[in-house]
Amino acid sequence: MPGQRLIWQAYPFHNKWKRKEVMKLGYNVAIDGPAGAGKSTIAKLVAKEKGYIYVDTGAMYRAIALYFLNQGLNASEIEKMKEIAEQAQVEIGYEQGVQQVYLNGENVTSKIREEAVGNMASISSAVPEVRARLLNLQRTLAQKEDVIMDGRDIGTNILPNADVKIYLTASVETRAKRRFHELLAKGVSCTLEEITHDIEQRDFRDMNRETAPLCQAKDAILIDSSDMTISEVVEKICSYCNKNLDE
Ligand code: DC
Repeated sequence: MPGQRLIWQAYPFHNKWKRKEVMKLGYNVAIDGPAGAGKSTIAKLVAKEKGYIYVDTGAMYRAIALYFLNQGLNASEIEKMKEIAEQAQVEIGYEQGVQQVYLNGENVTSKIREEAVGNMASISSAVPEVRARLLNLQRTLAQKEDVIMDGRDIGTNILPNADVKIYLTASVETRAKRRFHELLAKGVSCTLEEITHDIEQRDFRDMNRETAPLCQAKDAILIDSSDMTISEVVEKICSYCNKNLDE
């Protein structure tokens, strides 16, 4: 068990969250965008620069996807996912400032990075019962802390009142090449065509699902990182954060 490192826990979604009644204490930065746009790399660096807590919500969806895979479910067994989603207890904590994800008490931080888990997460995250399971956890975190939270529906659904909203994207080619090189560096054997295909499929699923699809919030700042360096993107986002804090 994570013991004293344990900070936040997802509870079954039974009471509706009423935005007006919630006192917002944390400064919230939302970063949404498609797979491979560099959200987590950028968000971690902004978090370090500004002293925010980085919350990777994709990791939470991956943990539930891992639970389904461990239970022997395949991607087409949506009804079973709905039935057993409640059995997956997702918790997050921080070790030396690095987010750790626990699934029913087990630290699964590295296991959830596999491509198979990412692909399952892209399917199971469309299941409303799965999303409901994580909604309170994400909102509670943002309410209590200064966070930079990345995902697909943070600015549109989870934190509609975020202080800064960023929609970070890049061309499919750029994203596929980045992921391909990342995987090669990890020693994973794959082709650029396979990764491009995976990214296109994920984009389609994330953008076309019924519940909380990926889209740019009306008040989000669009950043296309295709021709930008990591530090240029970080600098740009930090400049918006400064702006808001100074107001
Ligand atoms: O960012 P990622 O690749 O770790 O996310 C894995 C999947 O989880 C992604 O395909 C879509 C889903 N996801 C989501 O639906 N909503 C979020 N806020 C974060 C991730």
